Order: sequence, then C-alpha cells, then structure tokens
Amino acid sequence: MDLYEAIRGRRSIRRFKPNRVPKEILEKIFEIALWAPSGMNLQNWYFVVVTGERKDALVEIASKGYSYIEPVLKDVFAEKPPVVEFTKKFFARLGGAPVIILAYFEPTREREETSIQTVAAAIQNLLLAAHAEGLGTCWMTGPVHVADQINEFLDIRDKTLVAIIPIGYPDESPRAPKRKPDRVVYQGFE
Ligand SMILES: Cc1cc2nc3c(=O)[nH]c(=O)nc-3n(C[C@H](O)[C@H](O)[C@H](O)COP(=O)(O)O)c2cc1C
Repeated sequence: MDLYEAIRGRRSIRRFKPNRVPKEILEKIFEIALWAPSGMNLQNWYFVVVTGERKDALVEIASKGYSYIEPVLKDVFAEKPPVVEFTKKFFARLGGAPVIILAYFEPTREREETSIQTVAAAIQNLLLAAHAEGLGTCWMTGPVHVADQINEFLDIRDKTLVAIIPIGYPDESPRAPKRKPDRVVYQGFE
C-alpha cells in the first residue's frame, strides 16, 4: 500500500469483527512500528498486547473511563447527541475488538512530554501498519482515566499509560471526518 494512500485511508474503527488476529500479524506490525523516531533515541516505549478472556476482563475495567469523559463529550457534541450515545456504547465493549494494545512509556531523565511524543510516533506507525494489513484500530485516551486500575490488573509498575488501542478486522467503514483548513502557516516563502 502506498504511504499517502495509507495515511489518507486510515480511519478510527469502533466496530470490529470477532475474528482472531494472528499473533504473527501483530508481530509484523510492531516490527515496523518501532522504526519510529524517539527522543534521544531512548526507544522507551512499551506495549502490552492482550487477547482472550484476559482481554474481556480488561475491557470491563477500561470501559469505566467513559464516565470521566462524558461531561466533556456532552459539551463538545451538544448539537450531536447521537455521537454521545454511540461513544457510550463503544466504550462498553471497545467495539468488540479481539485484541487490545496498551501503549506505555518507561520514565527516563527526559521530560515527560518527550516520552509522550516518542510513544505517539510509534502509535501512529502502528495504526498505519495495521491499516496496511487490513486491520482497524482506534487510538483512545479515554480509558487512561482509569490507568491505576488497568495497571493493577496487568501487573504493570513504573510505566506510564499513554493510550489504549483496540485492534481487529473492521466491521464498519466510517466516513472520513473533514480536516480543518488553515492549520499551517508558511513564512519566508516567495
Ligand atoms: C490522542 C488521541 C486520543 C483519542 N481518544 C479517543 C477516545 O478516547 N475515544 C475515541 O472513540 N476516539 C479517540 N480518538 C480518535 C479520534 O476521535 C479520531 O482520530 C478523530 O475523530 C478523527 O477520525 P479518524 O481517526 O477516523 O481520522 C483519539 C485520537 C487521538 C489522536
């Protein structure tokens, strides 16, 4: 798949088929995703990939993050109540995704902002590689509100949760949200 096509064609997927995702495909996606740049080349990203019954239990915990984002969601989408309803349903099962990826960083002597950007670079690569493999993803920070509960369940210590990413074969083809114009200014050109 052409890079431009991949970037433009990737969508956030919020409804998944139950079909299992072969571990080899996930390994292939991570192999390419971790060619991302990282602050001071520390590569201090850390991913946990969960499936099966363990995933079901994780989803139950992660879905509790919804109550924290609901007030903001209702405000931002005041004119579009169906978006709030849809999001509520999506959080309850994370779209039925067969696999959940959790993206962390290990703290370093660098500023936290740098580590967050390091993980974000790898996440975007991951999303694009997954798309190239016919898989859908949704980058989510809502569940990070319940990071302590998630970490306890996964027995993860001394790492910071940045995002969680449900991944699986898409069961929807959402329309691309329009991109805002005028978000780039050029200076010093002819
Ligand atoms: C940092 C970040 C956090 C996000 N958190 C959520 C989330 O918690 N729940 C959700 O449904 N989508 C979440 N999204 C997905 C965005 O809603 C989505 O990218 C946006 O609507 C544009 O749609 P597209 O990804 O299909 O282009 C997040 C995206 C980013 C980059």
